[in-house]
Amino acid sequence: MSEPFFSQLKCRECGALYPKKAIHVCEYDFGPLEADYDYGKIRAAISRGKIQSRPLTMWRYRELLPIDGEPTVGLKVGFTPLVKADRLAEALGVSELYVKNDAVNYPTLSFKDRVVAVALSRARELGFKIVACASTGNLANSVAANAAAAGLESYVLIPYDLERSKVLNSLVYGTRVIGIEGAYDQVNRLCSEIAGKHGWGFVNVNLRPYYAEGSKTMGFEIIEQLGWEIPAHTVIPMASGSLLTKINKAYREAVKVGLVSESKFGIYGAQAAGCNPIAAAQKAGTDLIRPVPKPDTIAKSLAIGTPADGYYAVNVMRNTGGAAEDATDSEIIDAIKLLAETEGIFTETAGGVTLACAQKLIVSGKIPRDERIVICITGNGLKTAEALDGHLPPPARIKPSLREFDALIAK
Ligand SMILES: Cc1ncc(COP(=O)(O)O)c(C=O)c1O
Ligand SMILES: [Zn+2]
Repeated sequence: MSEPFFSQLKCRECGALYPKKAIHVCEYDFGPLEADYDYGKIRAAISRGKIQSRPLTMWRYRELLPIDGEPTVGLKVGFTPLVKADRLAEALGVSELYVKNDAVNYPTLSFKDRVVAVALSRARELGFKIVACASTGNLANSVAANAAAAGLESYVLIPYDLERSKVLNSLVYGTRVIGIEGAYDQVNRLCSEIAGKHGWGFVNVNLRPYYAEGSKTMGFEIIEQLGWEIPAHTVIPMASGSLLTKINKAYREAVKVGLVSESKFGIYGAQAAGCNPIAAAQKAGTDLIRPVPKPDTIAKSLAIGTPADGYYAVNVMRNTGGAAEDATDSEIIDAIKLLAETEGIFTETAGGVTLACAQKLIVSGKIPRDERIVICITGNGLKTAEALDGHLPPPARIKPSLREFDALIAK
């Protein structure tokens, strides 16, 4: 890409401009820095046809992503299926429902491959040799895999008590996995200190403005896969709240650069009841986020007690006429089973949260039954298998005999 579409970083609070370096907070008001683009230039440069002529990956929207040159990491990430979920729609009593299925994102089966593709491509442009992250599991998997494939050294820091498969899915790539005796917030705080001292590229700390933009591609894909329309209602899981704010940004940018016409849309956030700082604030009608010091939920990937983008997420929901919900552990399990039984999609606990909350928003009338709904499934069920322990019947067991088989199915 020769023309620079991505111009600078900009403070989300005061609008102060900064150079495109590994920085993430405004020095005047500590506001988060965000990528800023030359939208006029992008509008002139892209079109639906141009995008559609490109390979089916997230990089088909590259003018709206914050790197200077060609991407070098995660070239095959994205363009996951948008499934028209008619059987689930019938179960929920709604007329038009889609599942955006990032449970099958390449290569590590969660939407985090999108953010990592951008962060590590940018990390290379900025000259980092060592990359790292603070993670609730999926981000660690993705940093480990994509860094390995790019030949970058990596460290991933996680709460020590994550699901077995999430830990294994980091270890296998040869990254350094460090389990911290504490909750995610403590992991994150430590990572800020390490980034300051060692100068590594932490994808979600000092590289956060670049990392976060990767989530927009989920929104661009939804629009394109709906035939270039913004869905009326989108339900999104929230941990830090970043994905939700970036899908909103994607919908707005798509209008701004002329890819879709403007239409009214609602953005809805989903959290676990055992760690619901953003949902609780939204329900209480405030944008003051009260931290949850000790998260207690099977949805460990969403267990962030002090969400960095919580304030912005609440404001997106308010400004779009959306809302938030939260789901208990048993509601999460029921939703995982419902999605599997109706659509053949096995999601991790975060997806159970999203579907359970979507269901509640429909029942309460906050999402109308006769308008188009998209729910974002962001991670794979094979990574949180233990959440289902004791919730599924064991397989039948018989001798290799036709008599025993016939007796079994006659029951
Ligand atoms: C599967 C899954 N879904 C959703 C999220 C939410 O991400 P965000 O921090 O952007 O709100 C995460 C975060 O780790 C996740 O692992
Ligand atoms: Zn500022």
